[in-house]
Amino acid sequence: MTQTLDGATAIVTGASSGIGEATAHRLANRGASVALAARRTDRLEAVADALREEVAVDALVETTVERFGSLDILVNNAGLGRGSDVAEMTTEEYRTMMGTNVDGVFFATRAALPHLRESEGNLVYVGSFAGQYPRPFNPVYAATKWWLRGFALSVEASVGPDGVAVTVVNLYRRDKLEFF
Ligand SMILES: NC(=O)c1ccc[n+]([C@@H]2O[C@H](COP(=O)([O-])OP(=O)(O)OC[C@H]3O[C@@H](n4cnc5c(N)ncnc54)[C@H](OP(=O)(O)O)[C@@H]3O)[C@@H](O)[C@H]2O)c1
Repeated sequence: MTQTLDGATAIVTGASSGIGEATAHRLANRGASVALAARRTDRLEAVADALREEVAVDALVETTVERFGSLDILVNNAGLGRGSDVAEMTTEEYRTMMGTNVDGVFFATRAALPHLRESEGNLVYVGSFAGQYPRPFNPVYAATKWWLRGFALSVEASVGPDGVAVTVVNLYRRDKLEFF
């Protein structure tokens, strides 16, 4: 069993990339509060944001399983678009889309998979028409949904034989969606 670091506080120098970044993730995953140090503050902010998201998603899955005893379905729906033209796009808009539509989907899937294997459960991914067909509007948003579709289909190839079902919904327009 992995040792918990709940209540521990750590400092990682050189945490903006490479081994320091990976170490910070490991420490945070095990419950430590981590202070990050390096010169590139924009990179440090990005690492800190990713750590916060990852820890929050892990806690969501673990709390759900503790509360209800198991997990049968994960719907990966959280997603957003920011900006449009690549030439005009800010770094913040880019990172917000990548953080939510790509990193968030990976973190949630990783945290849920052991439980879904156990329950032979379902993974649902909300993709987009933009993730199936090229279009001029917001190429970064479109690319996150191509990533999602490629990830989902490959996860299916990997864990389908273990009994986990994977569904991708390539949504065209929200107002055209019907629930039965
Ligand atoms: N609307 C469409 O026509 C359309 C078309 C194609 C695909 N899609 C896809 O369908 C999905 C849902 O879209 P929607 O139109 O229903 O969007 P929405 O109304 O903007 O809802 C997005 C949801 O995701 C949550 N969210 C955003 N960032 C998050 C984060 N970092 N962590 C956790 N939750 C986050 C938002 O809640 P908070 O802001 O409260 O966190 C909100 O509940 C998205 O994946 C989108 O890309 C939508």
